[in-house]
Amino acid sequence: MAQETNSKYLINGKQNILSGSAPSGDLTLGNFIGAIRQWGNLQNEYNCYYMVVDLHSITTRQDPKVLRERSISFFAQYLAAGLDPKKNTIFFQSHVSAHSELAWILNCFTPYGDLTRMTQFKDKSVKHPKNINAGLFTYPVLMAADILLYDCHLVPVGEDQKQHIELTRDIALRFNNEFGETFVVPEPFIPKVGGRVMALQEPSRKMDKSDPNQNNTVFLLDEPKVIEKKLKSATTDSGTTIEYTEEKPGVKNLLEIYSSLSEEKIDSIVQKFEGKMYGHLKVDLASLVVEKTQHIRDEYKRLIADKNFLHSVMKENAERASAHADKTLSRVYDKIGFVPKA
Ligand code: AMP
Ligand code: TRP
Repeated sequence: MAQETNSKYLINGKQNILSGSAPSGDLTLGNFIGAIRQWGNLQNEYNCYYMVVDLHSITTRQDPKVLRERSISFFAQYLAAGLDPKKNTIFFQSHVSAHSELAWILNCFTPYGDLTRMTQFKDKSVKHPKNINAGLFTYPVLMAADILLYDCHLVPVGEDQKQHIELTRDIALRFNNEFGETFVVPEPFIPKVGGRVMALQEPSRKMDKSDPNQNNTVFLLDEPKVIEKKLKSATTDSGTTIEYTEEKPGVKNLLEIYSSLSEEKIDSIVQKFEGKMYGHLKVDLASLVVEKTQHIRDEYKRLIADKNFLHSVMKENAERASAHADKTLSRVYDKIGFVPKA
């Protein structure tokens, strides 16, 4: 679809954005720096949809009780981290049935070969060899449905999700070619700073909420003492000088976290720590992380105790999401040739 015709999909003159995270582990400092904090910065300029991506989370086995509690916790953490549910539409993916419905349709328009090329599918198949289910394979099609339902112009995601956005674009373009203008073709929107917070003990890979080694990960709801302990035991490198270099991935990661939270340039942080030991950097970073996230823990405690409020917000926001999604789904049903209900 040409960019100029996209304007009819604007809401109050604003472009649509959607993103989300799957409740398959607790939210991390990486999620905060790379995603949630960035989402908060978009809420005035764009019409934003943010999901707790529960349908996607069950492509790997989840304990039902943990999943339910964690999903509500995610929702409360989104709000606590500063996403305003009046300015953004914040909802559970499973509360809007159009996601599953459009996913089926798009499954019928997605070549098998395209899905076999998805690196996340290949990685997860190796990680969970006993549970390579069809949902894991068609995961990117559900993600395409998520995005296309809200006529999204932009999708803020990390590098690892770029391939899924490419696939979404292919699906949208193919459908538009066959049936005429139906979907907005989205672009990925990857943050420039803090795009990749690395694991504390193994800085060659990203900090991940489902990492079995909890010392790799600072969780957003970790108590200050735990944050300090994890950061103090972060892997640094041989040598003693605090430098920003590929040869010292551990120190580099700590400097990047410092920089993205303090909004200071890496150079000036390096200067500040000149002649100091790794330990100094770790102690200062721990205080900074605690300081920049304490309001989230405080607000979270207040919100999670107020289930009535949370339920009313989730209901109202899901209704707003459904109104948009159902409209898109009807447009698709009509194009395909399904008989309308009434
Ligand atoms: P996930 O945790 O994979 O559900 O990702 C949810 C969002 O958080 C995505 O936009 C990711 O790009 C972002 N994210 C996850 N882990 C990190 C990390 N270690 N560094 C930066 N961003 C991350
Ligand atoms: N697959 C994304 C991830 O693992 C989560 C996700 C699902 C998503 N649907 C989405 C992100 C739609 C952006 C838009 O991070």
